[in-house]
Amino acid sequence: MRALLADASARLPGEEARAEAERLLAHVLARPRAWLYAWPEHLPTPEQCAAFERAISERQRGVPVAYLLGHRAFWTFDLAVTPAVLIPRPETERLVELALARLPREQALAVADLGTGSGAVALAIASERQHARVLATDISPDALAVARSNAARLGIANIAFAEGDWCAALGDAHFDLIASNPPYIEGRDPHLGEGDLRHEPAHALSSGADGLDAIRTIIDAAPRHLLPGGSLLLEHGRDQAERVRDLLAARGFVDVESARDLAGHERVSQGRLPPAR
Ligand SMILES: C[S@@+](CC[C@H](N)C(=O)[O-])C[C@H]1O[C@@H](n2cnc3c(N)ncnc32)[C@H](O)[C@@H]1O
Repeated sequence: MRALLADASARLPGEEARAEAERLLAHVLARPRAWLYAWPEHLPTPEQCAAFERAISERQRGVPVAYLLGHRAFWTFDLAVTPAVLIPRPETERLVELALARLPREQALAVADLGTGSGAVALAIASERQHARVLATDISPDALAVARSNAARLGIANIAFAEGDWCAALGDAHFDLIASNPPYIEGRDPHLGEGDLRHEPAHALSSGADGLDAIRTIIDAAPRHLLPGGSLLLEHGRDQAERVRDLLAARGFVDVESARDLAGHERVSQGRLPPAR
């Protein structure tokens, strides 16, 4: 194992090379990573060596580690991920925190997560608010299959799933809160051709020339699916907050504000419909 890890770390780029090689070897051996340190002389079988070699070659091609491992930590879970879904990002936990702050614990509120991908946001909210009913939607049936299997594996039952285009998937239902981490990268952003992004679904990443097509569509339609006083929360790019706030205010949302992530960037904007008169 010591020789395998030294060779693989030398072939992978970046500061994380050694850590990635260790995670991939631990995965192939179905052991915790700490086990590699306890048994550095262990001799993997030829099949395990071949599987590790395949994983390292894929990683050299840029396939994200999360896809190779088949899972990624988010909130309090380890979520299954496949190339059909965006790999959940730590920044998106801010969207969950802000949604939870608007959802009193004991009330049976209705919540929708638009573009659920692996189910990350919907599952985190459903697990923290057990009286809430959460509807998770996506346009991709393959993504919904991943989200459904995550819900089943985690034993989270207060969640339902619907396939469809943004708010069209909501039918005629009304919600206390709608949250979404939609695609928001500008269509011609050069980052789309770099690193892990090359391997994630394009429709999960970018949305029109200025990146705001999906956000515009959601903001336009959401009031028809929110109860009076209901909230809309949207994750967006770090330089999009002002434009998203303007779109929310122009559509009649009140108490419009943006929240910063740990790095100090405004990454989630939110507003409420006025309460019923
Ligand atoms: C940025 S990913 C977010 C995934 C997940 N919510 C997360 O935070 O990890 C955007 C998601 O929106 C979905 N999506 C893209 N276009 C859509 C549309 N027109 N209607 C509904 N969902 C869509 C994609 O399939 C993808 O799962």
